[in-house]
Amino acid sequence: MESSAPKRRESKKSLRVKVISLGNAEVGKSCIIKRYCEKRFVPKYLATIGIDYGVTKVQVRDREIKVNIFDMAGHPFFYEVRNEFYKDSQGVLLVYDVGLRESFEALDSWLGEMKQEMGSQANMDSIVFVVCANKVDLTKRRVVDEGEGRLFAESRGFHYFETSAQSGEGINEMFQAFFSSITDMCENGGKRPVTELSVGFTKEQADTIRRIRNSKDSWDMLGVKPGATREEVNKAYRKLAVLLHPDKCVAPGSEDAFKAVVNARTSLLKNIK
Ligand code: GTP
Ligand code: MG
Repeated sequence: MESSAPKRRESKKSLRVKVISLGNAEVGKSCIIKRYCEKRFVPKYLATIGIDYGVTKVQVRDREIKVNIFDMAGHPFFYEVRNEFYKDSQGVLLVYDVGLRESFEALDSWLGEMKQEMGSQANMDSIVFVVCANKVDLTKRRVVDEGEGRLFAESRGFHYFETSAQSGEGINEMFQAFFSSITDMCENGGKRPVTELSVGFTKEQADTIRRIRNSKDSWDMLGVKPGATREEVNKAYRKLAVLLHPDKCVAPGSEDAFKAVVNARTSLLKNIK
């Protein structure tokens, strides 16, 4: 395979980059790329077999960027084929279907697979990530809301876009931000610009909000065992209250999470002698 790393000796204005698409099967990775490159949508599902490769040229400011796109198959069956293609990527499209919670929850394991395959090369700070919350046109079946997706993305320093390959919503904006950030990164000596990481809240806060949203009951929400004592409940509550208090935490969804924690504590204390 031809090396796709940026060629610094080429003319100053041209740049060559490699991007990959990741996410569960059928979330719309190929359709997002097709919508951008070919301006069309294919309603019939044609599973990617292993990997699809394409090249496109884009203009970012005064630079021409040659983008090599490796569109991965999401099906586990193709792991052996796609694992070769993680290396040397400057950009990653992480795609999920807003109507399928498991496709959102799988994003961490896609990042895990990527890190594992990149091995010692795994420097996630030298890669631009964009999270695509796809199929937003299917509003009635939506189960993962914007706050949840944005929280996942921004707490990791990733971009977040709501997209529909079907209607085209968000697609051009997403790719423009993607390529522009990759260009900034290459001009910044291969480091993702720091400003993108300054979101004003910590990963611990973001992860806690996510855990609270997905908790199955009040015990689980406070992170205590069923049957815990008043002291244990209060201790767990205080820790979460300090972490998520709306005066201290600006992460999306912190206010709702804080209220949920207050309610969980009240309802548990009612039933503990
Ligand atoms: P694999 O190649 O198997 O990993 O799947 P993929 O993620 O590439 O999915 P693909 O792009 O092939 O799309 C899967 C199905 O979802 C197809 O039937 C598409 O027509 C449909 N689809 C993709 N994007 C959208 C969208 O934004 N809205 C709607 N309504 N359907 C979409
Ligand atoms: Mg595909």
